[in-house]
Amino acid sequence: MTTNNYHPPVHNIQDTRAVDDAKARADREVMVQGAAVTDQAGKGPVVEIRDLTKTYKLGHTRVRALRGVSLEVRRGEFVAIMGPSGSGKSTLMNLVGCLDHPTSGEYRLTGRTVSSMPADELADIRNQKIGFVFQGFNLLARSTALKNVVMPLMYAGLSRGEQERRARKMLQLVGLGARMNHKPAELSGGQQQRVAIARALVNNPSLLLADEPTGNLDSHTSLEILTVLQALNQRGLTIMLVTHEADIAAYAKRQVVFRDGRVVRDEVVAAPRSAQADWLASRQTPQVTQAERAQEGEGSSSHE
Ligand SMILES: Nc1ncnc2c1ncn2[C@@H]1O[C@H](COP(=O)(O)OP(=O)(O)OP(=O)(O)O)[C@@H](O)[C@H]1O
Ligand SMILES: [Mg+2]
Repeated sequence: MTTNNYHPPVHNIQDTRAVDDAKARADREVMVQGAAVTDQAGKGPVVEIRDLTKTYKLGHTRVRALRGVSLEVRRGEFVAIMGPSGSGKSTLMNLVGCLDHPTSGEYRLTGRTVSSMPADELADIRNQKIGFVFQGFNLLARSTALKNVVMPLMYAGLSRGEQERRARKMLQLVGLGARMNHKPAELSGGQQQRVAIARALVNNPSLLLADEPTGNLDSHTSLEILTVLQALNQRGLTIMLVTHEADIAAYAKRQVVFRDGRVVRDEVVAAPRSAQADWLASRQTPQVTQAERAQEGEGSSSHE
């Protein structure tokens, strides 16, 4: 415990009963959703990739971005995808995220073969099963946090009231109960990324894909985001996170390293670091000013 009242977002929401109820409801829904996915797809892996290749054609040149990748990601895993620039990490994420077709190989998502699916079916699967978080947040600048999170639900056939209820619940889950009506420019980088995480999860996806989600954030704010991701993972969310940084990958449960379009290392992390513990420790360093603490304390007091 620190001397001030501020705690990282997901930790903080456990401190109030109203948000605890929201958390309990969210837990139940995650479980319900998990059961539904299991019914449809058995207990197999979320991602099964065999011999996947991707070759981009640029005029007369061909870029072999993936050269035969096989990978399995099971439910509840938190995988860091690492490797130097150009090694194929984003290409893999685009394929896993059903944004693109492989050149060859097989990809099954929660048991369904998607590698050969037509584009419209691929888009449906993507909307139902995948949540995306990007380095640049990609929020709608003119819309409030709430509107940004409601956006993916607009085509889900839900009433306006139900859309907002779900969006509010997700924003509370990431510790932004007090910031629902703020526009992106009125939020810190960490808060913007938390809005993006809430938006990615509002459809209850089977898999969260995050490509350098902390790439635009300082180290302290990165820990805030990792705290949220670890808490969501503990609730059963499967996460694949791309990062250049070993410091960030240390919070994952497994590390897969790419080089030249191939997997060159795939290891379980024996003892993943706790982002929350490191976040708290970094709070105690003197570089955080009193004014910043006061501002953040104010932001976290809204759940009452
Ligand atoms: N749309 C595209 N058209 C042509 N070549 C591409 C395309 N996208 C990526 N590439 C090439 O494919 C290779 C892999 O790119 P990719 O974006 O997957 O790398 P990365 O590991 O994500 O790199 P970074 O860490 O810099 O983001 C690179 O050589 C890149 O130049
Ligand atoms: Mg990339």
